Amino acid sequence: MSTSPLNKAPISQLPLSDFTEHRAALMAKMPNSSIALFPGASELTRSNDTEYAFCQNKNFLYLTGFNEPDALLVLLKDEQGKAESILFSLAKDALHEIWQGRRIGQIKAVQDYSVDKSFVVAEIDSLLPDYLDGKSQVFFGFSNHDFAAQVFTWLKQVSGSIRQGAKTPQHLTDVDPMVAELRLIKTDNELALMRQANHISGLAHQRAMQKCHVGKFEYQIEAEILHEFARHGARHPAYASIVAGGDNANILHYTANNEVLKNNELLLIDAGAELAGYAADITRTFPVNGKFTTEQKAIYQLVLDAKNLAINSIKPGMSFAKLNVLTNAFLTQGLVDLGILVGDLTELISDKKVKEYFIHGLGHWLGLDVHDVGDYHISTDREQLRAFEVGMVMTIEPGIYIPLNDLSVAEKWRGIGVRIEDNIAVTATGFENFTVNSPQTIEDIEDLMAEIQKA
Ligand code: GLY
Ligand code: MN
Ligand code: MN
Repeated sequence: MSTSPLNKAPISQLPLSDFTEHRAALMAKMPNSSIALFPGASELTRSNDTEYAFCQNKNFLYLTGFNEPDALLVLLKDEQGKAESILFSLAKDALHEIWQGRRIGQIKAVQDYSVDKSFVVAEIDSLLPDYLDGKSQVFFGFSNHDFAAQVFTWLKQVSGSIRQGAKTPQHLTDVDPMVAELRLIKTDNELALMRQANHISGLAHQRAMQKCHVGKFEYQIEAEILHEFARHGARHPAYASIVAGGDNANILHYTANNEVLKNNELLLIDAGAELAGYAADITRTFPVNGKFTTEQKAIYQLVLDAKNLAINSIKPGMSFAKLNVLTNAFLTQGLVDLGILVGDLTELISDKKVKEYFIHGLGHWLGLDVHDVGDYHISTDREQLRAFEVGMVMTIEPGIYIPLNDLSVAEKWRGIGVRIEDNIAVTATGFENFTVNSPQTIEDIEDLMAEIQKA
């Protein structure tokens, strides 16, 4: 593919200037005499003395690009509006570095991460009460209870010194929605990373189709996907891969991935790579033996057409609420045509009968998290009314699920579960579909799989 983002030098990180811009954008929203606190993630024990692969807190990563555990970012704005950024990080430690790996340390933190000052983590408790003293407003994330408790401990230390002239901040504000609003609109560099994460993930879906055979186990296909991610530098999936043969596709978050792939069944794969913290989230569904049955073809084509209808309608000003109206009507009509839904079309649409088979949402924001942050402006009737803006990235993922035990439909439809999911950026003129290299038409899938099954 001549347009492959992989033909260029690999992007493994956003440029440093992006992180300083993210911090500046957040600080522009902070009033004078305020402080914002962002804890990084800690390592999580998997068992005894082994840890899960480290995953940095995504707000902290967005503001720093710093990928070590137990760090803390402090943003200060004084009474004159002068800004200062301070990073607390683990001390350099020769023994630890021999066993566990290199640490950046405080000198390189200032040099390489463009913060104004850096101190070791051990100094946090002695310095934080001084930073809080005299500020009028404190920003921190309310969803992290342990950290909120820590903030209150420091605030208590400040109020304990009131007779010595200390002044306790009077306004505490949840910073998470402010960061979410920034994260929702992606910069060109973030879009480039997400395009690349999609490209790698698309190659993995291609590989899955090429390696699929009747009699293989779901986990063997999962291994092919992880192999393809890793060999392009995406060492971790953005979420646990779903590799669901046959009726397992009707379990939405199926991750057991331990059953055998059977003839005449479909295989649904929902898998996306994480690249420099940014997620792809792609689903493809294809026949295990390389050839769709008549019923599989009918459901698959309906879902594919619904997906394309939704995607082709994306532009600034569109919303998930409007896309839902379009796709729900389209899928309802399709299920009536197939005899799966029976009744008056208008009534079926107004009764939202399609939701018996399309049992999840049409899509979600995508970014540093697979279900990314950002307000959907969900009204009381759960409509997602927020108008799309340039730089937003979302998934579009219609599906139709007919479990084997659904006796309300003719037997020939049972056990079919189809979802197709692409990742879309909103552009000034409409949209860009990042998910361009994972085959999706019936013809392309059957052609690709025929080549392999022949070989
Ligand atoms: N992979 C999770 C989702 O599609 O939302
Ligand atoms: Mn999704
Ligand atoms: Mn998905």
